[in-house]
Amino acid sequence: MSDNNSSQQLWTGRFTEATDAFVEAFTASEHFDRRLYRQDIRGSIAHARMLAACGVLTGAERDAIVQGLQEIEAEIESGGFQWSPALEDVHMNIEKRLTDRIGEAGKKLHTGRSRNDQIATDVRLYLREAIDAVCAELMRFQRGLVELAGREADTILPGFTHLQVAQPLSFGHHLLAWYEMLVRDQERMADCRRRLNVMPLGSAALAGTSYPINRDMTCAELGFDRPGDNSLDSVSDRDFAMEFTAAAAILLTHTSRMAEEMILWTSPMFDFIDLPDRFCTGSSIMPQKKNPDVAEIVRGKTARVNGHLVGLLTLMKSQPLAYNRDNQEDKEPLFDTVDTVLDCLRAFADMVPAMEPKRDNMFAAAKKGFSTATDLADYLVRRGVAFRDAHAIVGAAVRYGVDNGVDLADMDLATLQGFSDAIGEDVYQVLTLEGSLAARNHIGGTAPEQVRTQVARARERLDRIAADS
Ligand code: ARG
Repeated sequence: MSDNNSSQQLWTGRFTEATDAFVEAFTASEHFDRRLYRQDIRGSIAHARMLAACGVLTGAERDAIVQGLQEIEAEIESGGFQWSPALEDVHMNIEKRLTDRIGEAGKKLHTGRSRNDQIATDVRLYLREAIDAVCAELMRFQRGLVELAGREADTILPGFTHLQVAQPLSFGHHLLAWYEMLVRDQERMADCRRRLNVMPLGSAALAGTSYPINRDMTCAELGFDRPGDNSLDSVSDRDFAMEFTAAAAILLTHTSRMAEEMILWTSPMFDFIDLPDRFCTGSSIMPQKKNPDVAEIVRGKTARVNGHLVGLLTLMKSQPLAYNRDNQEDKEPLFDTVDTVLDCLRAFADMVPAMEPKRDNMFAAAKKGFSTATDLADYLVRRGVAFRDAHAIVGAAVRYGVDNGVDLADMDLATLQGFSDAIGEDVYQVLTLEGSLAARNHIGGTAPEQVRTQVARARERLDRIAADS
């Protein structure tokens, strides 16, 4: 071996000159993959125990390795660990430190494995925990929404299509629409977790290993459902990272839509809600401003996670089997996705249930845009008018209302009967906002009674999931 070689690197045997200083820095990942130290140590301990059980290591070697790794974990946690970019990544930083601490036995830890199955295992362990944390925040957010929805079942606001007033809604119903989106997000996360919980460890570099390993043993210790059936696939594919990021991008697309609505609602043009001051910021120049920045930032954060998804898809698309170093580039987008989605969920789980509805303003807005026009058409249908004719009749009444600045409910009976003689005195019941809501009393409808039923169902679901976990 040339004495040019850096004494730190663990793979210099076949090299005759030291790594170019820039290349060393360019290829290093320890500054970001050190985040995986707990998973890396956990995987190494399971691997060492398995090697000893299979007779590849002695009991004394196993004990030295396990204890050494535990001490290294404490060292990292206390901030006393010296990370070195010359040792490339989290794996070799820890392995080198282990050998420095315990000597010969440390050099045997890497028997029968590769950094390829090691990193694939670490990332899966990491993502499994991240998904659990995301689901816990999702649960907290859902709970807050459901409780707010329960309190606001009878609050009426205009529902929009094309951002034009469409039909009156229960505010509780609107909030439960958000809840439903989050339920599916949680299912997507759980689904992703189930698919990723397959163990690469034992695949070694790409083809498996010639040692008599016991993969069921490491699998049980690490909490995987089973060892991967194909070593090439196990070390190579990062579909679980793409899948998680896709689920996160969809989740954030949902929170971004919620953000957009809250931003509109806090605008004086709507003035439907107030957000507590602690979630808002002011303007450096305009003294009157109170801005919904948390919601705007959540909306903005969605862009970076959407970008990460495209990044990960693109990273994978041209890789031949099996492992390629390109995959080192999956860490930063993945970690940032985890951080971003957790931060956004935390912000919304805190803020959204604390929003204060301005019920009078919501109600007044729902009264404005002829929001019960459909109810009038339905009324005419019940009186024997064909729906298409009823639509035209009500259209004419609305035209009249627009021209004369009068709402349907405020027209006198003679005026209304001028549009159709099928209209009777009882028409006013269907023209009220409360009547409009109450009439939609079926599964999925906006009647307050339905909203209360859905709130009860949602509480049961949340209680059940909390009890199961
Ligand atoms: N830092 C690498 C990664 O993130 C670890 C695996 C390296 N394997 C290798 N043969 N260089 O993917």
